[in-house]
Amino acid sequence: MSEESMAAVVLAAGCGTRMKSERAKVLHPVCGTALGAYPVRAARAAGAEPVWVVVGHDAEHVQEALAAEGVGFVRQEQQLGTGHALLCAEKVLQNFHGSLLLLCGDTPLLRPETLIALSELQRTEQAAVTVLTMRLADPTGYGRIIRDGRDLLAIVEEKDASENERRITEVNAGIYVFEAPWVFETLHHLSNANAQGEYYLTDIVRLAREQGTVVRALELADPDEALGVNNRAQLAEAARIMQGRINYAHQLAGVTLIDPVSTHIDASVRIGTDTVIHPGVHLWGKTKIGASCLIEPGSVIRDSRLAERVHVKAHSVIEESEIGTDSVIGPMAHLRPGNVLRGGNKIGNFVEIKKVDMGLHSKASHLTYLGDAEIGADVNIGCGTITCNYDGVNKYKTIIEDEVFVGSGTQFVAPVRIGRDSLVGAGSTIVHDVPPEALAISRVEQKNVEGWRLRHPLKKKE
Ligand code: UD1
Ligand code: CA
Repeated sequence: MSEESMAAVVLAAGCGTRMKSERAKVLHPVCGTALGAYPVRAARAAGAEPVWVVVGHDAEHVQEALAAEGVGFVRQEQQLGTGHALLCAEKVLQNFHGSLLLLCGDTPLLRPETLIALSELQRTEQAAVTVLTMRLADPTGYGRIIRDGRDLLAIVEEKDASENERRITEVNAGIYVFEAPWVFETLHHLSNANAQGEYYLTDIVRLAREQGTVVRALELADPDEALGVNNRAQLAEAARIMQGRINYAHQLAGVTLIDPVSTHIDASVRIGTDTVIHPGVHLWGKTKIGASCLIEPGSVIRDSRLAERVHVKAHSVIEESEIGTDSVIGPMAHLRPGNVLRGGNKIGNFVEIKKVDMGLHSKASHLTYLGDAEIGADVNIGCGTITCNYDGVNKYKTIIEDEVFVGSGTQFVAPVRIGRDSLVGAGSTIVHDVPPEALAISRVEQKNVEGWRLRHPLKKKE
């Protein structure tokens, strides 16, 4: 292998005790993506290949969550410390000669440029270890950096630090570049004689000094980058910073965010130019929004595709649906999974739809439930229409062909087919198929009983 080659190891075996969670720490999402996926992607983007992830606590779920990242997994059966964790990767990297980038699974904000700068410093200084450090007003919880000018002497964990050492504000970010295979040979000499009884990776600095090898440090300009997520407060802080970055990138790419601070956009979401997004909007998962859309306050859109010029009015919820060009949704509409709206559609207030395929320019403007329905083009669904699609056991389909006009207050008892260009009279309960161009009406004829109220008064007459 060439000297330029860089591999990476991401430590993700710890249980994250301080999270007080049933789930492993690296599984907690930040802007819709598992915490542990971020350092993996940063390492890749910095040119590291292969990337190995050390898993232990809740390993099955962690592997499942990171399966799509194209990484290899190494088991650390017992969590004996960060040094022991890296040593678990010795076997899979035994033939690797080059720079080994080490990241912790709980630092999601690292930028690839920083990792590249770290590995370049390692190369130009011909160091055995290069440590990423940062200065914090409050260094509590982090390992302290003991220096002599440019030379790094040691990293002291907070629990092992003297009072003087605790006053040091330069801390270990937990990100390193090591020379391999030197690092593995040296890790065998770690001891666990410390306050936590763990094999600290940080002790490798002391060992390197004893061997007289070069140890360097790179100080981060922006300490936010190495924020370690150890508890829920730091999780929220990381999400806030990540959200800021995501939203800023959308703004630079031509998306208007009326109030970026209250706009939640997952890392995986794509948005076209000239789209305007109002406060309190949440865009989740694999959502893709086209150009020139307008998303009004409080709407939540998950795993959906909106074409161009779609207008989503306030407080609508859209899940796993496809919405065609020039459609208007809401206010307060609920699109449950499986809808395909072909374009120019209107789904109005208090309309719930599920598994509906709706042709061009068809509308359901008010107070309606449509489920398991195939609706043609230019169909008007009147207010209060209900598809009765479920008999308690099975679901049935309602098919409404092109240009049908459905009067208000209609129920379709599925399975049923309404032929093209027919009209369904208001208040009908439709149980049989309707042929094309027909009028279907099923309500009972009205009867007026004259003087009935006089004979049945609610209150006694005075
Ligand atoms: C570590 C560093 C500390 C640094 C801080 C930066 C050590 C001893 N300390 O402390 O100097 O300032 O990170 O955020 O390295 N892990 C394993 N197996 C284990 C133990 C941990 O895989 O046996 C993993 C964890 O899942 C986590 C990472 O290593 O992703 C760091 O462990 P954590 O317990 O969070 O270390 P810190 O106390 O934060
Ligand atoms: Ca940590």
